[in-house]
Amino acid sequence: PIVTVLLCAAAYIMGSVLFALPVSQCWGLPDPRAQGSGNPGATNIYRIGGWQPAVATLALDAAKGWFPVWLAHNSGLSITAQAMVALCAVTGHMIPVFYRFKGGKGVATALGAGLALAPATTLIMTAIWTVVMWRWRISALASLIAVVSGPAISALVEPDTLPLFGLLTLLIVVRHRNNLIRLAQNRESGL
Ligand code: G3P
Repeated sequence: PIVTVLLCAAAYIMGSVLFALPVSQCWGLPDPRAQGSGNPGATNIYRIGGWQPAVATLALDAAKGWFPVWLAHNSGLSITAQAMVALCAVTGHMIPVFYRFKGGKGVATALGAGLALAPATTLIMTAIWTVVMWRWRISALASLIAVVSGPAISALVEPDTLPLFGLLTLLIVVRHRNNLIRLAQNRESGL
């Protein structure tokens, strides 16, 4: 229905706002696309500016994933339609209309969208992320292990959302291809 199309478009546009950029400006930090890993995301903002702007980036990038899915849920859309809205938000972050389609890796936005649509799965994935992060201090490794676990967890806990997690995993792993190469070569920079 038209509501699904409108919410997908809104989710893509919201997703296209890379909050790492306004946040880095607010904190007087350099452009994260030219520093550290070059990724406009919370991890790289942490490298550049510490935990306060990193938490702000994480929260805002998650909120832009959470909000359109929450709207879709409260508009009575089907799980499939809600999953499409979630994918549009994450796609907006990855290929944003406002930044010449050069975006981020989608982890925080997927976290927000996941919390709205499949909270149990997403909380278990967040726990996995936290354990890996605590043990190895490499954000990309934590994100990859959590995301790769997602489909199996959702199949067990919230099976309706398995197709969403399958697609999110695919998108996020592809966006981490350079991190994967660095991990394989044992030269991925820590947090
Ligand atoms: O979510 C992004 C994270 O997994 C990796 O970020 O900056 O280390 O490439 P970065």
